[in-house]
Amino acid sequence: MSCYHARLLEAVDIDPDARVLDIGCGTGQTTRAAARAASGGDALGVDISAPMLERARRLTNLEGLANARFECGDAQVHPLPAERFTIGLSRFGTMFFADPSAAFANIARALRPDARFVQLVWQDGSRQEWRAAVQLALTDELGAPSIPAADSAFSLADPAKVHAILSGAGFVDVQLAEVCEPVYYGADGASALHAIRSLRITSEPLRDLGRVSQFSGAHAGVNDCTGQQDAAEVGQGVFVVAGRDAAPLLEPVEAALDGVS
Ligand SMILES: C[S@@+](CC[C@H](N)C(=O)[O-])C[C@H]1O[C@@H](n2cnc3c(N)ncnc32)[C@H](O)[C@@H]1O
Repeated sequence: MSCYHARLLEAVDIDPDARVLDIGCGTGQTTRAAARAASGGDALGVDISAPMLERARRLTNLEGLANARFECGDAQVHPLPAERFTIGLSRFGTMFFADPSAAFANIARALRPDARFVQLVWQDGSRQEWRAAVQLALTDELGAPSIPAADSAFSLADPAKVHAILSGAGFVDVQLAEVCEPVYYGADGASALHAIRSLRITSEPLRDLGRVSQFSGAHAGVNDCTGQQDAAEVGQGVFVVAGRDAAPLLEPVEAALDGVS
């Protein structure tokens, strides 16, 4: 995620006094980065996973970051303070809502009227090299596994749907900007395999077939796409930028995407 991470931070363009809300923050890498940039402000990470937040808090304490904190909750209903945050962001944390309209309305309420919201989501699964690589590895191992049809990782891949959901939730000036970057799964084959196995598109077919151990044969394939710039799988993401008022929003994103083919 490091390439996407850098792009996202450039696009979000956090000022020192920002109050940042990070949705689906996971283990808090983006929340900590936001807190560092907002040295006179603060950052709140929200995630539904308590174990991830435990790790996020541990890493934050280790770093001694006093202005980053975390709350465990479902972004669809979590009671966020009204109009507190000047920047909302999310790195691949907004695609998993059962009720996206409720979630984005809840997020919009927490943002100040002049706030900006920048989220990074995946484009359609058919455009992802990394997804094809996983499918190929599974097929080699198991025949023709069925990858979950409605993979929620791609639930915000349709621009028209994104426009409709965000506008309905109270956002204005919704804009999208494409970004393609390599996706690395780990520093070595073992950690890459661990990461790959945790993906839903991998774990579900393997679980259904009861053949988790057999997937180790895909290790070689995973090795091929780790730690090597040339062999990295490419992901196609998109920045979705929206505001609470009609101010121009896309300039920092366009600057961040300079040089991206
Ligand atoms: C793909 S991970 C991204 C994590 C993090 N943003 C990152 O880039 O490392 C998606 C995250 O969204 C969280 N999530 C899923 N549904 C959620 C919800 N309804 N409310 C809050 N967080 C949610 C998951 O627990 C997970 O940590």
